[in-house]
Amino acid sequence: SIPVITIDGPTASGKGTIASLVAQRLGWHTLDSGALYRLTALSCLRRGVDVQDEAQVQHAAQNLNVRFDYPHIYMDGDDVSDAIRQEEVGNLASQVAALPLVREALLQRQRDFRVAPGLVGDGRDMGTVVFPDAPLKIFLLADAEVRAQRRCKQLSEKGISANLTSLLADLRARDERDRSRTHAPLVPAQGAHIVDSSQLSIQEVVNKVLDLWSG
Ligand code: C5P
Repeated sequence: SIPVITIDGPTASGKGTIASLVAQRLGWHTLDSGALYRLTALSCLRRGVDVQDEAQVQHAAQNLNVRFDYPHIYMDGDDVSDAIRQEEVGNLASQVAALPLVREALLQRQRDFRVAPGLVGDGRDMGTVVFPDAPLKIFLLADAEVRAQRRCKQLSEKGISANLTSLLADLRARDERDRSRTHAPLVPAQGAHIVDSSQLSIQEVVNKVLDLWSG
């Protein structure tokens, strides 16, 4: 079957960056699964859907009209690549992600990304739920303080000023929500390799994943 490398981990652990660099090196496709939850959240915002209303959010998830053209993402024809990265949308995403019917609605859409020659998928449940048969599973960790600092730097490079203390608080709240939800909680998949990137550079993490892949 078509190979998949899954990279799961908490928010701002660098999953997306690592996934796209590993995919580039292997010549494989990528799946940014968090983007699907962010798109669902943004769609709810734009349509005035209450994110507590599971049936309506499910409907929004089922009817997402999106196109991925990395690094651009379009919804209803609009380039929403920046809009979905807003903290507000990320927070809403983690709320809609707690709804079982929403996760179910996005399941097949995610599996459809598994196209030859291979896929690197990043998220929270890539190894546990979406691609449980993946031949290589990574669980990427980093200390919360390190993640908050990385995010702060990323934002300031984009000219957005951010408060480290509130970033850290947001990130901890989101971690807590992702870990404690009953449906598809954030836990390492069976057989996952735990990689702590707190003291590693991006290149070191990429090399580690590629080493694990080539055995
Ligand atoms: O990874 P990212 O921060 O873009 O994900 C946004 C939110 O979507 C996360 O906080 C998480 O709650 C949710 N998510 C998820 N399962 C995934 C990917 C993301 O529940 N596979």
